[in-house]
Amino acid sequence: MQTKKLNEFPKDFLWGSSSAAFQIEGAAYEDGKGLSVMDVRKIKPEICDYSVASDHYHRYKEDIALMKECGLKAYRFSIAWTRIFPNGNGEVNPKGVAFYNDLIDELVKNGITPIVTIYHFEYPQGLIDQYGGWIDRRSIEDYVNYASFLFKTYGDRVKYWLTINEQDHVVHMPFRLGLTDENRREKEKLGFLANHNMCVATALAIEKCHELVEGGKIGPATCFETMYPTTNDPLDSLACMDAMEIRNYYLLDLTIKGEYNGTFRRYLEDRDMMPEIHPGDMEAMKANKPDFLAFNYYYSESISAFPLDDEHEIGDIEFKLLPSREAGIYQVVRNENLKATLWGWEIDEVGLQLAARLLWERYRLPLLITECGFGNKEVWPEEGILEDDDRIDYLTRHIRAVKEAMNVGVDFIGFCSWSFIDLISGHSGFSKRYGFVFVNRDEHDLKDMARRKKKSFYWYQKTIAENGENI
Ligand code: BG6
Repeated sequence: MQTKKLNEFPKDFLWGSSSAAFQIEGAAYEDGKGLSVMDVRKIKPEICDYSVASDHYHRYKEDIALMKECGLKAYRFSIAWTRIFPNGNGEVNPKGVAFYNDLIDELVKNGITPIVTIYHFEYPQGLIDQYGGWIDRRSIEDYVNYASFLFKTYGDRVKYWLTINEQDHVVHMPFRLGLTDENRREKEKLGFLANHNMCVATALAIEKCHELVEGGKIGPATCFETMYPTTNDPLDSLACMDAMEIRNYYLLDLTIKGEYNGTFRRYLEDRDMMPEIHPGDMEAMKANKPDFLAFNYYYSESISAFPLDDEHEIGDIEFKLLPSREAGIYQVVRNENLKATLWGWEIDEVGLQLAARLLWERYRLPLLITECGFGNKEVWPEEGILEDDDRIDYLTRHIRAVKEAMNVGVDFIGFCSWSFIDLISGHSGFSKRYGFVFVNRDEHDLKDMARRKKKSFYWYQKTIAENGENI
């Protein structure tokens, strides 16, 4: 809706940026860190591994000084589980504990609010070796112990916690569960079993956070892909609604309402994928509601119906990174109204406003954007600075969408861009950059790792200084 006036951002709005340990820290084999599923993942030769990343482990003071200069109010980062517990459970690694103590102290000293993701994709390989990881019930206790250790150790300074990053993606990506990528259709069943265990684990961790961290707030960091029916054929609308239920809402309904929604339950039962529910599981989820809902938003999807026919039966599913079509339900198709990034992610700030409004209406929890950003191939020019106008444009539009959602009553805590400095992409190595600060390295040539401010650095600095009035 176009309105006469647009409200200002609140004075305490958390302007921030995000990262994840394995994508930024490097030092993958240093100071007693154990291996995670990301460290052992087979990587295509043209793409770098995670061993050095942006070398933030050794340069965090320099990076935080840049955050301070930019004016960041918050920095969202993850703790590498295996720096704290190299095997995932058992012995604590004091050097890993000290690293995050120092990092948090440095942020606090510089007036930057730490927002900590407890676990961002890098599941301990040790737990996979011991019992298979999330697909085993023992994973619940190990996650809760690990989270409780973090609450006790850092909870005096960290008041914002995120349980699991993009659990909805982990569920559909076998390698993130420590499983092989073969036969992904069969792996879906294990994925939903893991999902159930993660939901129980995070519910218990929410309880612990409230018990152990004075004034602590905790929520999930999910990914949300807004979906549109491709045409006004009613069957496309139905497909879109079904896809929203089984791809987006199922997880939040479990985490926030403590229930398997009707569509999702039928979906699982039809495919013999319903996990066993143990006594107390649903009660734990119901009793421990998050304090806020964080979500990552990059693109929307256009959905068409995909009816069963002679060649397709229930259970037929195809994947790109995520499921891309499921017989009898939906298929994702190209949206001709939208431009896309070099990686085909369709750029759609309206989708962000819709996501915010849909989530607010369904869950009535304050929202926090934990990731939103523009990935691009970038080379530092011989003269001047890197003018990343596409990134500025993308972020301006998406922040404006947050402002518009707030204008119609949605409660937002803050906006964290992905990312502050360049780091390794989840799937595309160092060639897909997201930062306001360029890191001088290539895919395999580590160069000098120097940090250089891009044009967007100055734009974000101004945006924060003016509290978004320029948007
Ligand atoms: C989110 C993840 O899915 O998207 C991040 O939480 C990831 O870890 C980001 O880096 C962007 O994805 P990609 O593949 O472009 O790095």
